Amino acid sequence: MKGLVLSGGAGTRLRPITHTSAKQLVPVANKPVLFYGLEALREAGIEDVGIVVGDTRAEIEAAVGDGARFGLRVTYIPQEAPLGLAHAVLIAEDFLGDSPFVMYLGDNLLKEGVTRFVRRFDESRPDALILLQSVADPSAYGIAELDGAGRVARLVEKPSEPRSDLALVGVYLFTPAVFASVKTITPSARHELEITDAIQDMVDRGLRVEAHRVTGWWKDTGKLEDMLEANRLVLSTLTADLRGTLVDTTVEGPVQVGAGSVLTRCTVRGPAVVGADCRISDAYLGPYTSLSDGVVVEHAEIEHSIVLDRSRICHLGARMTDSLVGKDVVIAHSEAKPVAYRFMVGDASQIGIL
Ligand code: TTP
Repeated sequence: MKGLVLSGGAGTRLRPITHTSAKQLVPVANKPVLFYGLEALREAGIEDVGIVVGDTRAEIEAAVGDGARFGLRVTYIPQEAPLGLAHAVLIAEDFLGDSPFVMYLGDNLLKEGVTRFVRRFDESRPDALILLQSVADPSAYGIAELDGAGRVARLVEKPSEPRSDLALVGVYLFTPAVFASVKTITPSARHELEITDAIQDMVDRGLRVEAHRVTGWWKDTGKLEDMLEANRLVLSTLTADLRGTLVDTTVEGPVQVGAGSVLTRCTVRGPAVVGADCRISDAYLGPYTSLSDGVVVEHAEIEHSIVLDRSRICHLGARMTDSLVGKDVVIAHSEAKPVAYRFMVGDASQIGIL
């Protein structure tokens, strides 16, 4: 069994972060989303993984390398443009050959990993196995309708009038029978080769497409709220590990502080994680906060947020919450006159002010 991890895409829903970075490398509990997927594949016994990459290829390659640190052999498969999930399968045919494979969307997180599904696929030998989970807003997802016997009858991408609430989770298992289908289908209204259309074609050809319900949580981190929720879900199982220096600082609940970080006159209420070489003073860090390496926080309160490397958050007049802050960002109170808000903000940024 091989792995195919999709790490290209446009990432429009996570702009402006994705103007400069790959969304699959945004850290959840200080570990890139993509790494959770790679670890899950290795845990399931998979060693050969193809990673589909787009414009952010260099950044993904720099982070993952040859895969050895994950116990994997990684092959990079460049995709000329984000032409759809089924297009990614199409261009991976040479790499996948006649091996069955797990396709894993690089921005998805699955609590229980994929081992159970790989085993199920091995035992039951269907042509495809899809994973499903009930969702509250089915029109935002690829949705599966099952027949009376629980078999997949119909798949619809983001239906305006959904007839089921079973969303397709971003992990799919296929035999090479899928290649004929990805070659048959045509681009959808949004000009993508849809994986739902390819799977529908497999159903229509009479191939066996099994569905399996995911019991643990699943998160597609493609947009801000989901990224923050994934951070919350992963941090909920955090264990304490204090390596930095704590001066006049109170720590409550599970908190991790990386080497070289100094916290002075702070209250930290976990679960929260602070990376290495951070400088935090006169601050409150509340639950579900993840600060990456080199972050500076002075006279500020932060909770339920992710702050990426080297950003500075200083002298805020109110608590910062529900936020995703990119790298090298400065958010600070200014003494300059006139008293006013001053911004230098990239395209598609979102700012909420008091
Ligand atoms: P999506 O999140 O569905 O698409 P996207 O990355 O283009 O994001 P947005 O809708 O916000 O513009 O993609 C799921 C995963 O698959 C993600 O890790 C990106 C990857 N992907 C590819 O590698 N190639 C593709 O052609 C597409 C559409 C996605």
